[in-house]
Amino acid sequence: MQDILEQLERKRAAARLGGGEKRIAAQHAKGKLTARERLEVLLDEGTFEEWDMFVEHRCTDFGMQDNKIPGDGVVTGYGMINGRLVFVFSQDFTVFGGALSEAHAEKICKVMDQAMKVGAPVIGLNDSGGARIQEGVASLGGYADVFQRNVMASGVVPQISMIMGPSAGGAVYSPAMTDFIFMVKDSSYMFVTGPEVVKTVTHEEVTSEELGGAVTHTTKSGVADLAFENDVEALLMLRRLYNYLPLNNREKAPVRPSGDPLDRVELSLDTLVPENPNKPYDMKELILKTVDDGDFFELQPEYAKNILIGFARMDGQTVGIVANQPLVLAGCLDIKSSIKAARFVRFCDAFNIPVVTFVDVPGFMPGTSQEYGGIIKHGAKLLYAYAECTVPKITVITRKAYGGAYDVMSSKHLRGDVNFAWPNAEIAVMGAKGAVEIIFREEKKDPAKLAQREAEYKARFANPFVAGARGFIDDVILPHETRKRICRSLVMLKDKKLENPWRKHGNIPL
Ligand code: COA
Repeated sequence: MQDILEQLERKRAAARLGGGEKRIAAQHAKGKLTARERLEVLLDEGTFEEWDMFVEHRCTDFGMQDNKIPGDGVVTGYGMINGRLVFVFSQDFTVFGGALSEAHAEKICKVMDQAMKVGAPVIGLNDSGGARIQEGVASLGGYADVFQRNVMASGVVPQISMIMGPSAGGAVYSPAMTDFIFMVKDSSYMFVTGPEVVKTVTHEEVTSEELGGAVTHTTKSGVADLAFENDVEALLMLRRLYNYLPLNNREKAPVRPSGDPLDRVELSLDTLVPENPNKPYDMKELILKTVDDGDFFELQPEYAKNILIGFARMDGQTVGIVANQPLVLAGCLDIKSSIKAARFVRFCDAFNIPVVTFVDVPGFMPGTSQEYGGIIKHGAKLLYAYAECTVPKITVITRKAYGGAYDVMSSKHLRGDVNFAWPNAEIAVMGAKGAVEIIFREEKKDPAKLAQREAEYKARFANPFVAGARGFIDDVILPHETRKRICRSLVMLKDKKLENPWRKHGNIPL
């Protein structure tokens, strides 16, 4: 017995030491925490239950039979974030560069399987040199086993990836299939092929950071949601994100009561929208003044800035916010913003989170780059996402809702539950100027007449009442009462039940 206990302690100590003091020091020198230190920051103190500390690889090639480290480069188990269950895996770069072996993959699969059985999210802390080169195809099989589970878990339990070191080649595709990706600036990167291969194939000279760093993926590619300065900041923000989410697709998000009265009046909103319809204003101000305590957890803030997405709470209840941003591209919908918002709406729908949409959209972005890039197909993603969405949907049109974009942005026609408009909302096929230039083309040479036509068109259509007369708008509300009206609507919609017809799955335009 004593023997076994000593052996146990030895193995535990070896697992905790990972790749050894020297490699831990190297990890720290890069400004990175170790796999275990990261879990200490992420999880509530003393809640981590570790599994599979004694797992070792089974490789016998290249002298690997004599090179085994208990745990095999990934720390797995479960713990709590603010008292709520979460399954975790944290790759240990000090052990074979965190490279994924068959056994390493089995450990990840085990926590994912358990998370699915009990209905709890999975958080992966990625820091890995990729497939364990000594193992070859066995490790590729390991990746695919993880991918398969990512897909099966999608829409069942939330999955979140933190990229805290290298993630290259096949390693990128597990995070790519999770719901949210956070990255750490300067120490993490994701790419399918690294700078060396890029140079050989396309003759481009690019650094790892430029090719796949946190800034690149949160500004250019949209692959990642948020970039942070260091490991600790990233992990603490992940804890914050976690608080908004339900544990699984059968539960509702936790309610977090706030001292912010649900009927709080915000008079400054009455003057938010400028008189001149071509003048921009900051939609974020409306969001911050409407949600509980001005607390908006924005996702992808530096990518496709013409649309805002993120989580907030209204009277304690998590909501997903989608809002056109008139400050950027006049709030037009384009390829990037459509994809950004569509994926977010689908996340909210999968996880019972009501969607609140603020609309000020002059239409879809014109141009060859948009058309050649497939705006038809990509814009359709957002339309599809809103149309299939069955969670409570509340829409507030603050100013423009023109053309097809009016339909797309959670309109009544796409089963919007409550659709409000502010008094100066213009719900029309297009702006008055463009409209009269088409329908009164023959009067083009007579500016005075055209101006009169424009004024007539405005008086007739540039208001919320034409849509209101048809019931497409449930009510015209004063800006200062927006918070109260949304909160009341959410209470009314608390037990909303709506099901789509049975099918294997829809065929969203991809
Ligand atoms: N398989 C096995 N061991 C790996 C590995 C892999 N895929 N990636 C890294 N390692 C090992 C290294 O041999 C090294 O071992 P050591 O500490 O015993 O010397 C250790 O992990 C750290 O790697 P190192 O190269 O010193 O770290 P770095 O920070 O300078 O570079 C990488 C990190 C990821 C850029 C680099 O290790 C690399 O290019 N790895 C291979 C990536 C790859 O091609 N993966 C397979 C395709 S998915």
